[in-house]
Amino acid sequence: MTRPVILGTGSCLPQRVLTNLDLEKIVDTTDEWITVRTGIKERHIAGRGEETSKLAAEAARRALAMAALSAEDIDLIVVGTMTSEKTMPSCACLVQKEIGAVNAFAMDVNAACSGFLYGLDIADKYIKADPAMKVLVIGAENLSARTNWQDRTTCVLFGDGAGACVMTGGNAPDRGLLASQLYADGRLWHLLHMDTAPSLNPDLVPEEYDGSYIRMAGQEVFKYAVRAMQDGVAKVLAHANIEPAAVKLVIPHQANIRILNSLTERLAIPAEKIYINVHKYGNTSAASMPIALDEANREGRLQPGDLVLFCAFGGGFTWGAALMRW
Ligand code: ACO
Repeated sequence: MTRPVILGTGSCLPQRVLTNLDLEKIVDTTDEWITVRTGIKERHIAGRGEETSKLAAEAARRALAMAALSAEDIDLIVVGTMTSEKTMPSCACLVQKEIGAVNAFAMDVNAACSGFLYGLDIADKYIKADPAMKVLVIGAENLSARTNWQDRTTCVLFGDGAGACVMTGGNAPDRGLLASQLYADGRLWHLLHMDTAPSLNPDLVPEEYDGSYIRMAGQEVFKYAVRAMQDGVAKVLAHANIEPAAVKLVIPHQANIRILNSLTERLAIPAEKIYINVHKYGNTSAASMPIALDEANREGRLQPGDLVLFCAFGGGFTWGAALMRW
């Protein structure tokens, strides 16, 4: 069976870095509180010219360069995002224009922090149907644009950025995406949500509307995130008939260090196999896994034959896991 393989990865972070000490000047917080509760030390914040689609396009260019492909070779662009600069057209269409991928069709997927994982799964299905297809899967966010900078309980958590990979059908039956499991539970939407921009139809404005910011019940999200990712990982490993000890590297969604530590304890996978960069970028939602994937790849942490495990959790709730033999 042809399985999708990754030919190249790329990422792009905005220039400006906002440290915890900078945040101390904006809200009533401390570097110590943020570090202990989240593990985050700094995050990148987008400026002019660094809109979601621009970051996404640059990450895509870098992935294409590594894959030694040109933009015209791409057949499909999938962007996981919930913070594109436009509602229409999709971020994926803006990326298509930006990089000149004139032969690609293009779509966004909104699965919050699980957006890249959902994108991998979509690419998997298309490539299995047509192994010659070349698919760009991107996660890109400008969360700083949708953060309430007066709310210390959320503004310390998030950052901006983009990551990308190029996928196509592989030749070896044992390499590529082995299994992928996705889940959602819309009944829990109210625990982590963000209203859209103000409605122009006054009858459709929710009574409780007071801004289009990210809101969350932090402790509830924490509990669900750990349990759901643990469950997703167990199911994907069982589906592929792989023992946890065989996994070489876990690339999880980088929400915060305490979620990752709790998850690590439950997975029976040693901590040194969990890739962590949340201290540098904060939670970049759909962008966090492809940024981590690109960093791990460029650091030489992924060798042919290695088993790589992805897992994510986000608003919706959405969650899941995927297993790939590199
Ligand atoms: N600086 C200083 N004090 C703060 C801050 C801050 N930035 N934020 C909250 N506090 C205060 C609170 O007001 C509270 O004070 P009080 O005791 O006087 O009332 C105290 O710190 C403790 O607040 P809690 O909310 O109980 O803190 P908790 O230990 O739960 O940590 C956190 C909060 C970090 C948000 C935690 O709940 C968490 O990690 N949740 C997961 C949420 C998450 O990662 N969401 C991202 C999106 S979902 C995803 O990507 C998976």
